[in-house]
Amino acid sequence: MTIDVTFRALEPADLAELEWSGGPEHLTAIAEVLPLMVADEAEYVVGELPNGHLVAAGGADLRPVPEAGVLWQLAVHPLLQGLGIGTALVAELEDRARRRGRTEARLSVEHDNPAAHRLYRRLGYREHGSAVESWPVADGRRYVTVTTVLRRPLTTRP
Ligand SMILES: CC(C)(COP(=O)(O)OP(=O)(O)OC[C@H]1O[C@@H](n2cnc3c(N)ncnc32)[C@H](O)[C@@H]1OP(=O)(O)O)[C@@H](O)C(=O)NCCC(=O)NCCS
Repeated sequence: MTIDVTFRALEPADLAELEWSGGPEHLTAIAEVLPLMVADEAEYVVGELPNGHLVAAGGADLRPVPEAGVLWQLAVHPLLQGLGIGTALVAELEDRARRRGRTEARLSVEHDNPAAHRLYRRLGYREHGSAVESWPVADGRRYVTVTTVLRRPLTTRP
């Protein structure tokens, strides 16, 4: 089955359509990307079906590593995973990072997310150490986790 998904830049009105991607804290985190886009510090896209529904979202953060785009907040609608949309999302963000002069793509994956890890390895990403990361969750708490950092050069195709 092929799914016709078009990627375009995130717009403020999209937030209401991205509830499937996470809780309120996640939506707040996505909203915080909008000023970064205006400042040319991040690329952030949504994947749209022909009927206008949003089924994918994710970004490339241009701030942390001068030569790299750091892919983050990648998400595909739970009902449409395993159909190649995540692969297309990664390719779109890699293209955008490349157009911004970045020669490398990085991302990090939690230790307990082997399916995502397998996908990124298939797309040419290789281990580049580990990191401790955290983000806000409900009740003002922070979720702390260990991630594997992966990277791949953008000068070659996987
Ligand atoms: C991780 C995530 C973004 C991947 O998106 P996806 O759309 O499921 O990814 P794809 O469909 O491109 O690839 C997933 C698997 O489906 C397979 N696949 C790809 N195209 C396919 C198709 N047309 N038909 C069936 N299976 C297909 C791929 O081979 C891949 O398998 P692999 O893991 O063995 O390589 C998505 O699963 C997700 O949102 N997960 C929850 C949030 C999350 O974990 N985010 C990542 C944090 S690092």
